[in-house]
Amino acid sequence: MSSKDAKDPSNSSTGARSQESHGSTTHWTRRLLLGVALSGALLFLNYRLQSSYIVCSPSRKIYTVDGTLPQAECISVRDTRIVHVGKYDDTMRSLGTIGSLSNALPSWVAEKLEVRPFVKVIHLDEGSIMVPGLADAHAHIIENGYMNQLPLMGSKSIQEVVDRIKSFISTHPDVSKDPSRWIEGMGWDQTKWPGAQFPTAADLESDPLLKDRLISLSRVDGHARWVSPAVLKLMQDLPDQVEGGLIVRDEQGHPNGVFVDNAMNLIPIPPWSEKQITEFFDQTMNEALSYGLTSIHDADTKPDIIKFYQKMAVAGKLPNRLYLMGNNGSADYWGDTLPHLINYGKHGRLTLRSVKLIADGALGSWGAALLEPYSDNGNASGLMLSSPEKLEKQIRQFWKDGWQTNVHCIGDRANHVILDIYERILKGSGGNVSEWRPRIEHAQIFSPADLDRIGRLGVIASVQPTHATSDMGYAQIRLGPERIKGAYAYRTLLEKSPRSVLPLGSDFPIEGVDPLLGFYAAVTRLNIDGTSPHGRGGWFPEQKLTRAQALKGMTLDAAYASFAENELGSLTPGKKADFVILDRDIMTVAYDDILKAKVLATVVDGGVVYGIL
Ligand SMILES: *[C@@H]1O[C@H](CO)[C@@H](O)[C@H](O)[C@H]1NC(C)=O
Ligand SMILES: *[C@@H]1O[C@H](CO)[C@@H](O)[C@H](O)[C@H]1NC(C)=O
Ligand SMILES: *[C@@H]1O[C@H](CO)[C@@H](O)[C@H](O)[C@H]1NC(C)=O
Ligand SMILES: [Zn+2]
Repeated sequence: MSSKDAKDPSNSSTGARSQESHGSTTHWTRRLLLGVALSGALLFLNYRLQSSYIVCSPSRKIYTVDGTLPQAECISVRDTRIVHVGKYDDTMRSLGTIGSLSNALPSWVAEKLEVRPFVKVIHLDEGSIMVPGLADAHAHIIENGYMNQLPLMGSKSIQEVVDRIKSFISTHPDVSKDPSRWIEGMGWDQTKWPGAQFPTAADLESDPLLKDRLISLSRVDGHARWVSPAVLKLMQDLPDQVEGGLIVRDEQGHPNGVFVDNAMNLIPIPPWSEKQITEFFDQTMNEALSYGLTSIHDADTKPDIIKFYQKMAVAGKLPNRLYLMGNNGSADYWGDTLPHLINYGKHGRLTLRSVKLIADGALGSWGAALLEPYSDNGNASGLMLSSPEKLEKQIRQFWKDGWQTNVHCIGDRANHVILDIYERILKGSGGNVSEWRPRIEHAQIFSPADLDRIGRLGVIASVQPTHATSDMGYAQIRLGPERIKGAYAYRTLLEKSPRSVLPLGSDFPIEGVDPLLGFYAAVTRLNIDGTSPHGRGGWFPEQKLTRAQALKGMTLDAAYASFAENELGSLTPGKKADFVILDRDIMTVAYDDILKAKVLATVVDGGVVYGIL
């Protein structure tokens, strides 16, 4: 299917010209010339045929996410692009002389000339569907590979975490033999444990196998780290306070092993080697392609990782599209230290035109910045990681230098502060919202007035439906019965958006990589076992998205949020041929069956990158 190994038609025509330049006029030479020209033309035809095909669904289960023809029978693809979407005959004709000529050739002629006789027509099985290539509008590619070294997701107690570390050590001789080697894991969540309290360093010494080991474990949201006593020993002379961070302490005031937000920077973790980065990347990509992800918005790409992606792009080793949100991590302005990249690399799959900024922490670690104190902790109202003044100065400069700004905001205070800044820029300085497309990542908790305001301003809310279902067990305890109404309010955000844009993401590795998990959460607001705090009808069911809205959020809206709506996000003639074949119809099957759907093929730029077409 890929056009990469197709014969280059220019070789044969060059051959024909060089024959001519020898200038012989004999009959024999003319015949030779004719022969060479003819085979050149056939090679060219062969090349066009190999890179052209048609995919059809007799039951019109091609969901285009294009309002002009929402369901279609066939699409035709030439090279990297979609040529036509519609009825079989029209798509066949759309391949022009190639389509009709190849079909007109008698098969014995085609065989003799070694030309594939027909444009390949692929018929989907009854029940299978095609959708546009799926996008994850907010994820962390390298961190996902990192987490998969020692995943702590779903652990139900501290003891289970300890057990997983023990089994990691005993199955990794390189780790067990080398006591200087750090053990890193990710995914613990104290809200899922008895008592729901933060763990302590001492918990990581309860077993002899763990004693004296350097252990650092990221919380599921990446907003806190839990370290072992051996790591604490390396961290002498800690400051009393950290701006935008918290060192959790015991009653005597000693650090007890958990570091929240900016305080995590104090932990002396060694940087990843190029080999590790490559492993993390390959691991995530294999997983992502198997779930139909053709685009990923990498939501916090550090300068060394940007360089890594650039290298991969130049070498043609990016299997799908990456839309990076650069982040240098410095509190100063750093927009001038990053390259602007648009459709960069051998296949044009790498783009860097946005930056990630972080306004606050996360709800699970009481770090989300709230306008009023937490309902379950009257002394805490969360953390702004940077002052509103600093954020405004940075955002203005990024805007002037042509960077889209994507700001992490969870709490209603963080959202309020960032909307203030966006509003001042958009109203005061003539900022054009459709040129700039400022985003808020997570857009999780809003005051009622700010829900109106984000819509009025046209700021893009980039949300993760699985966060609603992961948090629904404790979110109301943290926020109380009134504030919760403005939280995870996806339907409201979509309805208020002037362009009806609500890009969806997973935030993997915080949630699973499979985009169907987000689709299911968005349309059901249920746990995967079919339950919710509000019963089987879903948690705040009025905030459910329809399936069509959810599919658009994972395709066209994500494309809009990355300035790519004219190239990606729907099955529309002229757009890039990125699509996915699923073995069941997620648009109509019972809710319980959505997560049973399997990806049969993932196609990027017309070429199969996973499965079989
Ligand atoms: C980050 O930005 C600062 C300027 O704020 C610059 O000095 C530094 O070199 C940048 N870091 C990297 C790794 O590019
Ligand atoms: C709030 O702080 C006060 C004084 O430090 C303390 O007595 C009280 O228990 C705290 N309340 C909560 C909910 O943590
Ligand atoms: C904003 O930019 C868009 C796209 O370039 C343009 O069509 C529109 O006219 C601009 N609006 C204003 C108010 O300048
Ligand atoms: Zn994230």
